[in-house]
Amino acid sequence: MSKESKLQNLNEDMNLTREQMVELLNEDLAREYQAIIAYVVYSQVIKGAAYMDIATELEKHAAEELDHALKISKQIDYFGGTPTVTPKPVKFSSDTKDLLRFDLDNERTTVANYRQRIRQAEAMGEFGLSEVLRGIIVQEQEHEIDLATALGIDVPELPKKTPVD
Ligand SMILES: [Fe+2]
Ligand SMILES: [Fe+2]
Repeated sequence: MSKESKLQNLNEDMNLTREQMVELLNEDLAREYQAIIAYVVYSQVIKGAAYMDIATELEKHAAEELDHALKISKQIDYFGGTPTVTPKPVKFSSDTKDLLRFDLDNERTTVANYRQRIRQAEAMGEFGLSEVLRGIIVQEQEHEIDLATALGIDVPELPKKTPVD
């Protein structure tokens, strides 16, 4: 069974072991690293007078994503695991709108995964973890709003099925 389909199965089964939760939190951590890299780079390369406010905002996002990465790493350590060193891949484009869309897509995926993770944490009775994740998801939703506003669109509805990437 591929790693991806194994993780999909975990999403459907709420009774996770600590090892399974570590595996999922490491996926979340890899997404946080991806977000840090994207915001660090995109905030500097975005061009055009219309996008200067969002460029400044993206620098703030970078700092918040680092804080999320530290919080998730702490939880992985608490669950007896080792935090991953590998980010999810980061896309690049010379078009500012593309960069903002990449960020928005990643944030939607992140929010969908944290929603699932909060339910899983609560099913395990891990309320400390769920509290940490709830704090993070509030900021991820603010990131979505900032990006959608810069693109002049509403925050798109979440996909029905929880994505794993
Ligand atoms: Fe984050
Ligand atoms: Fe975010």
